[in-house]
Amino acid sequence: MCGIVGYIGKEKNALKVLINGLEHLEYRGYDSSGIAYILNDKLIVKKEPGRIMRLKETIDFNNDSYIGIGHTRWATHGEPNKINSHPHNSEHITIVHNGIIENYLELRKELTNKGYSFKSDTDTEVAAVLLNDLYKKYNDIIKAIQEFKNIVKGAYAIAILCDKEKDTLYAIKKNSPLIIGTSEDANYLASDVPAIIEYTNKYLTLDDGSYAKITKDKVEVYNNDNKLIDLDIKTFDSTYENTNKMGFEHYMLKEIHEEPTVVRRTSNIKTIPNISKYKKIVITACGSAMHAGLVGKYLIEKYANIPVEVEIASEFRYKKLFIDKSSLVIAISQSGETADTLEAVKIAKKYGSTTIGIINVKESSIAREVDKVIYTEAGREIAVATTKAYLSQVEVLALLAYKASKEKDLEEIKKFINDLNELPVLIDTIIDNSNEYKLISKYLYQKEDIFFIGRGIDYALCMEASLKLKEISYIHSEAYAAGELKHGTISLIENGTPVIGIVTDKTIADKTISNLKEVKSRGAYVIYVTTDKLAKKGDFYDKCIILPDINPLLQPLLIIIPLQLMAYYIAKEKGCDIDKPKNLAKSVTVE
Ligand code: G6P
Repeated sequence: MCGIVGYIGKEKNALKVLINGLEHLEYRGYDSSGIAYILNDKLIVKKEPGRIMRLKETIDFNNDSYIGIGHTRWATHGEPNKINSHPHNSEHITIVHNGIIENYLELRKELTNKGYSFKSDTDTEVAAVLLNDLYKKYNDIIKAIQEFKNIVKGAYAIAILCDKEKDTLYAIKKNSPLIIGTSEDANYLASDVPAIIEYTNKYLTLDDGSYAKITKDKVEVYNNDNKLIDLDIKTFDSTYENTNKMGFEHYMLKEIHEEPTVVRRTSNIKTIPNISKYKKIVITACGSAMHAGLVGKYLIEKYANIPVEVEIASEFRYKKLFIDKSSLVIAISQSGETADTLEAVKIAKKYGSTTIGIINVKESSIAREVDKVIYTEAGREIAVATTKAYLSQVEVLALLAYKASKEKDLEEIKKFINDLNELPVLIDTIIDNSNEYKLISKYLYQKEDIFFIGRGIDYALCMEASLKLKEISYIHSEAYAAGELKHGTISLIENGTPVIGIVTDKTIADKTISNLKEVKSRGAYVIYVTTDKLAKKGDFYDKCIILPDINPLLQPLLIIIPLQLMAYYIAKEKGCDIDKPKNLAKSVTVE
């Protein structure tokens, strides 16, 4: 989702810093980009639809500029064309924005009545025009910002340039991420750390409702009550990861290959709290993180004997909730910035529930909002479709279920720890087997629909496998509870329709196998995904993927790997832009 960069410094290399910063935010997903900077006392705006490469071609990097703002746009209001791209300018004020101005139509009407006109379809241009109008009223940007905050509803992180103050950047933040980077010779604005990490490891986060005035050697931050506050400057972890592809063709493949290391890093059971005292748990998240939550539900209910509900965060926000002080709400998020998940946590806190975050990005908004954070140690994930972060979320949930399970004897503990230690090796062997999945993918990539079926925890895995496939290959796919198939989906099965059946739970294996027989007899091309112990000969499948058995708590961590790899190879056969699938964003900072 939209990315923001801002630079003001002693060195006149703003253009390079802005473009470099935007390139480091590409992972968030975008469909156009733009920058605004001051050159020889004049404001220049450059913007282009499509990839940053197109924007770069319009820029003369020999030009010296010491101040500018940049943006990658993920379209929400108006199509991704040049006019709708940011920055947006209104007379004295030029801005870039991440978020959604909810009352923009109303404001646009009021401003039109005042005589202003608009070029774009965006909510952001309305914010620019409003800020300019307020600036003209007060002749003071800080005052304009204060009134802007009272008028505007919604979420916004905004970087502002004013043509009357060519040596100052301003910024406002509410419910969308924004950090300020500081250094001896320059100060920066960014949606996320990677945009500025090459230049500084000192930063400060802005609280909701706060705003800042930034010059090349000074940062002033005002809180929601308009009070100037002390700066709480933090230091990034100096081991912030290198993010090149390390010889892999795509980040997604590189990230799948990192999974053995990731599960090893995440497996520290000592950092896992014991949640056995809670009578009820609600897991809230979006996308793959929600699917990880579904796996967690099965594990926690089965092993810790606590009822668990999983609520999509965008639903959680607007439904009647049955939580109170005795409930635990677990929010899962790779980015730690997903707007709906963040809001769900705030709501849960209002109900008095304890909140735990399972988060990948350190110091992100959700990590700071929850009562207790458990970091998944997946490292930076660049591919929009998550793989290693999802896996680490499932691992943390398995560890939570294990820790809260009934009294365990020493032998059992030893066995679990052994299995946990064995996990990276087994994942490695599955990845080594990639040729098998490549061959199946060569058969599947021309198909128009692919179905996944399973029961219980296997159904939760089907949902993630199906999502991964459709996200990056654009093949229509559905995950279905195997027993529900007969109530509708079976009518879609034709000769050769691929149905992938996941069977890992021996108590219900025969039931799912019956369902596979039903589709097979209607012409489906069946791929049976199972474990060594449940592998069997039979005429109910065309292909079989057999995975090693492990402690059932950890089994889901093995099952998903070939399905991630198959999604990857199918998308590759189709020639898709695997790391940046169309219309998707890695960090969804609007609701
Ligand atoms: C986007 C990403 C998904 C991710 C979801 C939730 O849709 O493309 O991969 O699962 O957001 O993101 P989060 O950062 O909260 O895990």
